[in-house]
Amino acid sequence: MCGIIAMIGNGPTSKTLVDGLRRLEYRGYDSSGIAVIGDGTIDVRKSEGKIARLAQLLQGDPVDGRCGIAHTRWATHGEPNQKNAHPHTSNDGKLALVHNGIIENYRALKVGLSQRGYEFHTDTDSEVLVNLIHAHYRGDLAAAVRESLVLVEGTYGIAVIHADEPDRIVGARNGSPLIVGLGDGEFFLASDVAAMLTRTRQVIYLDDGECAIITADGVETCTVANESVDKEVTEVTWDLDQIEKGGFDHFMLKEIHEQPETIRNTFRGRVVYDEGDGHLGGLNMDTSQLRDIERVVFLACGTSFHAGLVGEYMIEDLARLPVEVEYASEFRYRRPMLPPNTLVVAISQSGETVDTLCAMREAKKQGARVLGITNVVGSTIARESDGGVYIHAGPEIGVASTKAFTCQVTALAILTLCLARVRSLKLEEGQEIIHALHRIPRQIDRILEQEEQIRTLAADYAGHSNFLYLGRGYNYPIALEGALKLKEISYVHAEGYPAAEMKHGPIALIDKDMPVVVLCTHDSTYEKIKGNVQEVKARSGRVLAIVTDGDTEIAEMADHVITVPPTLDILSPLLNVIPLQLLAYHIAVLRECNVDQPRNLAKSVTVE
Ligand code: G6P
Repeated sequence: MCGIIAMIGNGPTSKTLVDGLRRLEYRGYDSSGIAVIGDGTIDVRKSEGKIARLAQLLQGDPVDGRCGIAHTRWATHGEPNQKNAHPHTSNDGKLALVHNGIIENYRALKVGLSQRGYEFHTDTDSEVLVNLIHAHYRGDLAAAVRESLVLVEGTYGIAVIHADEPDRIVGARNGSPLIVGLGDGEFFLASDVAAMLTRTRQVIYLDDGECAIITADGVETCTVANESVDKEVTEVTWDLDQIEKGGFDHFMLKEIHEQPETIRNTFRGRVVYDEGDGHLGGLNMDTSQLRDIERVVFLACGTSFHAGLVGEYMIEDLARLPVEVEYASEFRYRRPMLPPNTLVVAISQSGETVDTLCAMREAKKQGARVLGITNVVGSTIARESDGGVYIHAGPEIGVASTKAFTCQVTALAILTLCLARVRSLKLEEGQEIIHALHRIPRQIDRILEQEEQIRTLAADYAGHSNFLYLGRGYNYPIALEGALKLKEISYVHAEGYPAAEMKHGPIALIDKDMPVVVLCTHDSTYEKIKGNVQEVKARSGRVLAIVTDGDTEIAEMADHVITVPPTLDILSPLLNVIPLQLLAYHIAVLRECNVDQPRNLAKSVTVE
């Protein structure tokens, strides 16, 4: 999971390449580099650490040319250091390559190349690939790339240049995204449209097994087997200011505050009050196909997995269909059973998470209908699924997912309506949900107004090094998500638990140094969870409770409370997660952590 940008035009490229890398930094940020063709030679600059370090290096030791490739890395093979940073060059320095993905058979390829006299100076699989291309080079870069890729097992998004062909860049993809950008007298290859949005909105999404050759005048696309392919040009509609910080200190905070709007974007035009029903045209399923479903399986990772858990509660509750939620990484390796009429739904913000993608392919192989709930238009999961729902959250840059989560949950609520209304859910019940959904954005605004109070609480709790998060029913997944947010960005150990399960283990940990965040809003589990709060208090635990406006009972027991407006049980996750996002954010800021780019994490995990 790394970020690639490559550019060819009629003027200097290095500034644009570095700007592009900055927008890709979310894909990995342990080292970066750039290679440009100068006067018939390839000049490379690489640096450990963030893009700012590369930019600094380039200031003191500039390189430039009309044709260049650049990379921001998240290490998979070999330590994150300058030596292993991309671009990698062939032994004679004439070829340079940037690579996102993993070459699985690189050891065997390396042995063959070593026997032919090639030497290797890094610990990476990518250096093997660049020399493999070199070994096939006979004056035609595109041909050499294609012939090499036929021998490669694994995943790649690559961009390659050759000093003797300064008028072209060759790209290819298999399992790692690569997009062509068509500008005005300049053409690009990038892992994400964000990297080239300042220069062009016209893009071509390459599919697996496809190559692109870009020059200053145009693009040619073909398969690795050298069959020409006609690709559709798509216009990107996201604005650049949508991917800037918009006055907030961090992308994560901006994204938390965007949620009233993004949730509206998810349900806009997709719920019809008069019918008490959802309309999701992208599912590509008619009423009878929806009715035929006998089981639903959600596949996801990380925060998207937690959204899937909320979806499980929703669909079982209202559509009375059995649902299973699976970590995608487990599903694909455990001989899963998918009886006929199982609907498989892959949930992924990026649409590129490789575990989710491969699990989805496994389900397709078994003949299941597969839907995708994704944010990134044109992403691999979106393109490979039989249908699905775009959540319309806009670009999410903060590594810890916030607005994508609430949009996923909103999309799942609408999917639930579609599945439930063709079964037993009554018109009025559907209408009640739609009515409540319309109120959610304004209710989130009211929670966001309490940010200062939450920040003060964060200061009170920021010194602790362990937290427990408890919830029941619909809010058990929210306890998991609250704990994940805290550990991701503040490096504080936090565990989410079903509140009643606490007494089977975690209760042993509770003392005055163990804050317990409890979700105890007014829902069907309220009476039960009051008992759990008492159990914590009886052991001197510190309780921070999320309660419904006007609640006094919990306030008497808890050390602190944050209030949220009342809503239906099934929509309560949309409100209850907001204070937990803010709490995690402010604790992380107070602990001086890098909120948007937490250590060891990446936004889009395109490796297993
Ligand atoms: C990474 C991110 C998480 C995200 C997960 C799944 O681990 O750091 O924030 O939830 O991947 O990503 P996806 O794009 O599939 O939702």
